[in-house]
Amino acid sequence: MKVVITKDYTEMCKLASRIFAAEITLKPDCVLGLATGSTPVGMYKELVEMYNEHRVDFSQVKTVNLDEYAGLSGDNDQSYRYFMNHNLFDHININKENTNVPNGTAADLEAECERYEQVVASMGGVDVQLLGIGNNGHIAFNEPCEEFPEKTHVVNLTQNTIEANARFFASMDDVPKKALTMGIGTIMKAKKIVLLANGAKKAQTIYDTVYGPITPKVPASILRLHPDVTIFVDEEAGALLKK
Ligand code: PGA
Repeated sequence: MKVVITKDYTEMCKLASRIFAAEITLKPDCVLGLATGSTPVGMYKELVEMYNEHRVDFSQVKTVNLDEYAGLSGDNDQSYRYFMNHNLFDHININKENTNVPNGTAADLEAECERYEQVVASMGGVDVQLLGIGNNGHIAFNEPCEEFPEKTHVVNLTQNTIEANARFFASMDDVPKKALTMGIGTIMKAKKIVLLANGAKKAQTIYDTVYGPITPKVPASILRLHPDVTIFVDEEAGALLKK
């Protein structure tokens, strides 16, 4: 695992965006694993800027997102499909048919998870996977638990995550309590992984991820067993690593 401490959020986003742009340059039909949340917004802005400057071409790129809220359709402005369209896909020359987000309104959520797992496998695996990290160490919506979940599954969100997500919803009752998420096994199959974290709230979980025991109680800690992971943190999120 490589850890890069950047001076601030802007620098973190710039550096991470270059890894994705380089991947597209080397392999124009690559599969990118994408993430939502406030952390990657700046990186997506960088990619849009690079696209506008003709430095990157998304015409053959395929994408798979990590997760989606159960019960929210793609036109709900809090859904992750909406987030991806709004923050990235609507601003670049990607073919939307090549973009995948789990369907949060599928009649049978378990069947949707199985379908999604097959979609990821049928694309030949993810070339570069982007991850954020929850304050509690979750990656995608793999919450702290007793064992690492392997495949795409339906998850009950923890109170900690529901509270962290509440800032985007009108009321606590509106915050979804369930989600569909790639499993830890699905994520670990990616060839390369880039994790981003910024802000003081992430400092303890970044410390635990890098130096603590590898345990499903800190889901991101398993990334230490992956051969190609780079963690970019700003000074605040990396503060405990320097002591
Ligand atoms: P955030 O969420 O980027 O909004 O902090 C990250 C996550 O929960 O994975």
